[in-house]
Amino acid sequence: MCGIIGYTGREQVLPVLLDGLTTLEYRGYDSAGVAVVGAEGGQLRLVKRAGKLANLRDALDGRTLAGTVGLGHTRWATHGAPSDANSHPHTDESGDLAVIHNGIFENFGELKAELVASGHTFASDTDTEVVAHLIGALREAGDGDLVTAVRAALQRVEGAFALAVVDRRNPTTIVASRREAPLVLGHRDDASLLASDVAGLIAHTRDITALLDDQVAILTPGAIELLDLDGRPAEGHRYTVDWDIAAAAKQGYPHFMLKEIHEQPQAVADTLLGRVDVDGRIVVDELRGGRSVEDELRSVDKVYVVACGTSYHAGMVAKYAIEHWAGIPVEVEIASEFRYRDPILTPHTLVVAISQSGETADTIAAAVHARNQQAKVVAISNVVGSSLARAADAVLYTRAGPEIAVASTKAFTTQIVALDVLALYLAQLRGALFPDECRDHLARRAALPALIAQVLESEPAIAELARTVSAARYMMFFGRHVGLPIAMEGALKLKEISYVHAEGFAAGEMKHGPIALIDEGGPVVALVTRGHVRGKVVSNIQQVKGRGAVVLAIATEGDTEIKEHADHVVYVPEVHELLYPVLTVVPLQLLGYHIAVQLGRDVDQPRNLAKTVTVE
Ligand code: M6R
Repeated sequence: MCGIIGYTGREQVLPVLLDGLTTLEYRGYDSAGVAVVGAEGGQLRLVKRAGKLANLRDALDGRTLAGTVGLGHTRWATHGAPSDANSHPHTDESGDLAVIHNGIFENFGELKAELVASGHTFASDTDTEVVAHLIGALREAGDGDLVTAVRAALQRVEGAFALAVVDRRNPTTIVASRREAPLVLGHRDDASLLASDVAGLIAHTRDITALLDDQVAILTPGAIELLDLDGRPAEGHRYTVDWDIAAAAKQGYPHFMLKEIHEQPQAVADTLLGRVDVDGRIVVDELRGGRSVEDELRSVDKVYVVACGTSYHAGMVAKYAIEHWAGIPVEVEIASEFRYRDPILTPHTLVVAISQSGETADTIAAAVHARNQQAKVVAISNVVGSSLARAADAVLYTRAGPEIAVASTKAFTTQIVALDVLALYLAQLRGALFPDECRDHLARRAALPALIAQVLESEPAIAELARTVSAARYMMFFGRHVGLPIAMEGALKLKEISYVHAEGFAAGEMKHGPIALIDEGGPVVALVTRGHVRGKVVSNIQQVKGRGAVVLAIATEGDTEIKEHADHVVYVPEVHELLYPVLTVVPLQLLGYHIAVQLGRDVDQPRNLAKTVTVE
């Protein structure tokens, strides 16, 4: 789960690498490094440092490292603690080639033992250095060709990885490959680039090829050749991205997270765009794919939703929508659990795999596991051409634009609306909704962007509230029905960026244990919008108030009675009961954000985390 950038072209490469690493730093920030192949005499120069990218810039100390070919890496440590020595790039025994890598080479211990036995010495504890040595050793033992040596090395390694190699002896070339880890290539007439995601490339090109598993890419200025591991010509998945460069910049906001929270009205509007035809029917062209796909979806008798983290919470919300609108039983499961058990899957099972990045290893594995057992897999992803999108039978894209902050916000709200559209579409296919009803439903959803914008106006009040609770040792969140996943999501937001212990509970479960945690003045957030469980949540509020809690209620506008029970109230506009999550999560995102700011945390790059978890 690291950031990789590579460039070969005519420009001086170091600024390209540093800009790319700045964009990709959200993928990992334990250490950073660059390798530049010098134009004259083909020198290979490496600079790398533990810590954030700023440390690498300090280490460069204004040096330009002249050269037009190079690699950059920002690391989230797996093998070997974050240190200068363990930072990427790593060189082979000769020092002629350098490797950067994202992922884990699982059999590196065995390979290292072999290399040590034949006289290799290592400067780091990493699996990456072992593979650099392996490539170098295979080149020396073979015909001296770098590509042949990379192909041979990759036939020996196990695990999930993306890697790139530069070489003093091939001063215009980068060789790259991947297996179950993301790597995209960027085409330009005068240059070729690679990165671990498109956010790293959009400043240079929108013409992208997603490299497929076990393909080897040979990049030279203006040309990219693909081979399979046996050296036969191969083809990747080439497409054009429509993301704006500005979307990957903060645009005046102090943090990406705040910018992305404020982008939610637009992101939701974009995700809903074009979802109804002139006859009022819901349009999900992505799932159409001919009559057979529609027939398959019509005959679905069970849905599993699999995802991790925030995407899992979106899946929990989807359960209510799919069961309510389409009448199909739904189970929601954390992908890392689902993939290691034996769920009962049949050709009539629909597995919905949700992942913002589309690169989360566990979610991809769960989708593959399901497909291998004949289930139909629909992916919900924010990244066109992502690994999950390619592993699924069909994909429904959220249109949130690049999400850079580690804490997911706009991806979550767009996932909820995409899943809601999926629920209505399944209902339509199964005859559970008439066109008029569909039209009404979609009209209600079309109002959501403006309603989110209205909720965002509460930000000053929420920031003030954050000041009053930021000293708390813990915070509890509870809700019922669709309030439960939002309680869990509110707690996740708070804990991941502020490091304050926070948990989300089913309100009815409080008295079965969690209520023991409450002490005088302990803050509790209650999701208590209008709906059939409101009265029950009010009772739960009274129970915690009776034990000294200070309660912040997220309630529906016009509910003045709630003020008798709660110490603070944030209102959201009235919507259909199943749509509240899109609104109620917004104040909780803002609360988490402002508490983290109050505590002086690194909001966009919280400790120990990285944006995308491409390893187990
Ligand atoms: O890219 P994905 O949606 O698959 O990512 C899943 C989780 O890693 C992610 O939602 C994570 O929990 C976020 N940091 C939450 O804010």
